[in-house]
Amino acid sequence: MTETGMRILISTDEVRHRVTGLGLEIAAAYPDGTLYLIGVLKGACVFLADLVRAIPRPVRFDFLGTSSYGAETISAGEVKLTKDVTEDIRGAHVLVVEDVVDTGITLDFLLEHLRKREPASLRTVTLLNKQARRLRENLIDFVGFEIPNEFVVGYGMDYNEDYRDLPDIRILDGTGV
Ligand code: PRP
Repeated sequence: MTETGMRILISTDEVRHRVTGLGLEIAAAYPDGTLYLIGVLKGACVFLADLVRAIPRPVRFDFLGTSSYGAETISAGEVKLTKDVTEDIRGAHVLVVEDVVDTGITLDFLLEHLRKREPASLRTVTLLNKQARRLRENLIDFVGFEIPNEFVVGYGMDYNEDYRDLPDIRILDGTGV
């Protein structure tokens, strides 16, 4: 796939502006106390890196890993944990950071997993919300952008591991999604 098969959905400036807004919303929503942002690898790491610097209060962060996205994963409704959090999050405020929520299966699984660690609170932020294919209804506390049912890349999101490094978010045409 060459870059000719792409069109910009959300520009670099729009992403930057919205991340700044999300940082302020998140800071205003939390009382004092430890706040952990938990990024879901790999897609969310670029968003998380910008988001932690947009939240005007101290935060800590850690990462979770899940099995890769695919048709089998969706139909089976199962997610495999490939990397667990390494920090003790018991009694801390925990905010799960996703790049995109699509079917909701990954987030559903991760929330159930993290709840067992007994955090003081457990909330979620996603940069992109793709509601069209939702199979699990989770409350998403903070949403950057609502997007249509298109395959998007850039700003951490990939197609076969390419394009994560793009600074903006683009629709990849011809992927059959
Ligand atoms: C993406 C995204 C979410 C998940 C959302 O990750 O980061 O974790 O898919 O899909 P769902 O709502 O249908 O469960 P992906 O598996 O593409 O891995 P990556 O972040 O490593 O690219």
